[in-house]
Amino acid sequence: MTTRRDFSLMLLATGALAACASEPAAAPMRDLTFDPDRFVPKVFTVDGRRIAVRAYEGLPVVARPVEPACQAINVYIPEAYFRGEAVGRYTARTAPIFLPNQVGGYMPALPGRPDERMGPPPAPGTSAPPSAMAVALARGFVVASPGARGRTLRAADGRWTGKAPAAIVDLKAAVRWLRHNAGRLPGDTERIVSNGTSAGGALSALLGASGNSADFEAELQAIGAAPARDDIFAVSAYCPITNLEHADAAYEWQFQGLAEYRSIAISMLDFKVERKEVAGRLDADQLALSRELQAAFIAYVNGLGLHDGAGRLLQLDASGRGSLRDHVSALLAASAQRALDRGDDLSGRPWLSIESGRVQGVDFTAYAAAAGRMKALPAFDGLALETGENQLFGDARTDQRHFTAFSVRHGRAAGAARADALTVRQMNAMHYASDPSARAAPHWRLRHGTMDRDTSLAIPALLAAALRERGLDVDLALPWDRPHSGDYDLDELFGWIERLM
Ligand code: DHB
Repeated sequence: MTTRRDFSLMLLATGALAACASEPAAAPMRDLTFDPDRFVPKVFTVDGRRIAVRAYEGLPVVARPVEPACQAINVYIPEAYFRGEAVGRYTARTAPIFLPNQVGGYMPALPGRPDERMGPPPAPGTSAPPSAMAVALARGFVVASPGARGRTLRAADGRWTGKAPAAIVDLKAAVRWLRHNAGRLPGDTERIVSNGTSAGGALSALLGASGNSADFEAELQAIGAAPARDDIFAVSAYCPITNLEHADAAYEWQFQGLAEYRSIAISMLDFKVERKEVAGRLDADQLALSRELQAAFIAYVNGLGLHDGAGRLLQLDASGRGSLRDHVSALLAASAQRALDRGDDLSGRPWLSIESGRVQGVDFTAYAAAAGRMKALPAFDGLALETGENQLFGDARTDQRHFTAFSVRHGRAAGAARADALTVRQMNAMHYASDPSARAAPHWRLRHGTMDRDTSLAIPALLAAALRERGLDVDLALPWDRPHSGDYDLDELFGWIERLM
């Protein structure tokens, strides 16, 4: 099956963003009023059907942008709504608004377009599957794709302009812009559904968890965001790389005792991302640090007091076993059972026990060994400040900083600084999932493939548990054999959204 969004190609698409020019001083304030008459007619073809839309591209979402190309939105509206017609079950008043962000790797992102192919090229003789945006339009959604600042952006004066929390501030500004224009713009701003993959999945989840939180008010004011609410109706997140300050510890819990890893080194040459597999081995000192991180994860989980869907407290014993591991194993078993039920061959999976077509059990340690460790140690807060996340947590004057006490303690970069607690919190969906002062989206769909090693399976499992603890509607599944990717099950995704309407 084709994977519609692939990490390497996402970065390739966003890599062209060095062009995201910074704002010169004393530029005029942007008008945030949507003008329905300024559009370009476009036609997209989805499964042989032609969909006529009005395209509004590159609209500013804030009055005082710092990086105007990124702090903008593309809006696509089915032409039928301007003739007073319905599309499927929706009208101009009731159409849900699909809000896909294009962020990958916490890099800068431009607003997306329905004809953009995010995945690998189609096999010879086949045509590319339609994008999520095109499918949404065919189903009668209004599509609004926001851009966002990212970790590599730098102004002419040398200041970094896209460090945390810039990306989430921009997505919130986009939601405020939509609400500000409710009534001028077809679509129901009380039915905004966010979508994203990986870093974009983390931002989608963060957007949904942190609705109207006062934590972001100063940044939103500074860029001239519209005066409106920023809570949303539903979240779709594929492999969200979230809870970054606990993700190192979660990674060591999952891959405990596995010394070998095969990481992907990403470099950029002439705006082309190059990915090279680098094999490595944790030495004895690193394995000791790995055990220290696992112990920190166990303490973290046991302090959360979260429950699984059946009300069982999620805990871990000193060896890393316990109800959280059983819960994640049950999610893996459910995924394997669905694959068996549709006829997949699951032989050659020594971590699965199957009898008469039924999955009997999962050996979690053997699963982790078979999936394979992909990241070095620590996975996210690099001791030499070498990761993308270190760069995400820089500030205007500093490219890279730590964001965990562990990596500050063990760090090897001379004079390394640590991001402040508010900035770290502002990037963590898990924090807002249990913050009653934020208005969380009522509906959640989380997907994380069983072959995705970019973060521990505990990360989406704990996020889902925290959201359920708040009484929210959460659908979490681990799609069988999926690697780190998204938008691969659009029929199911849109089926889920339509059942909510
Ligand atoms: C992404 C992947 C990662 O492994 C990571 O640490 C951050 C972001 C991504 O694909 O967006």
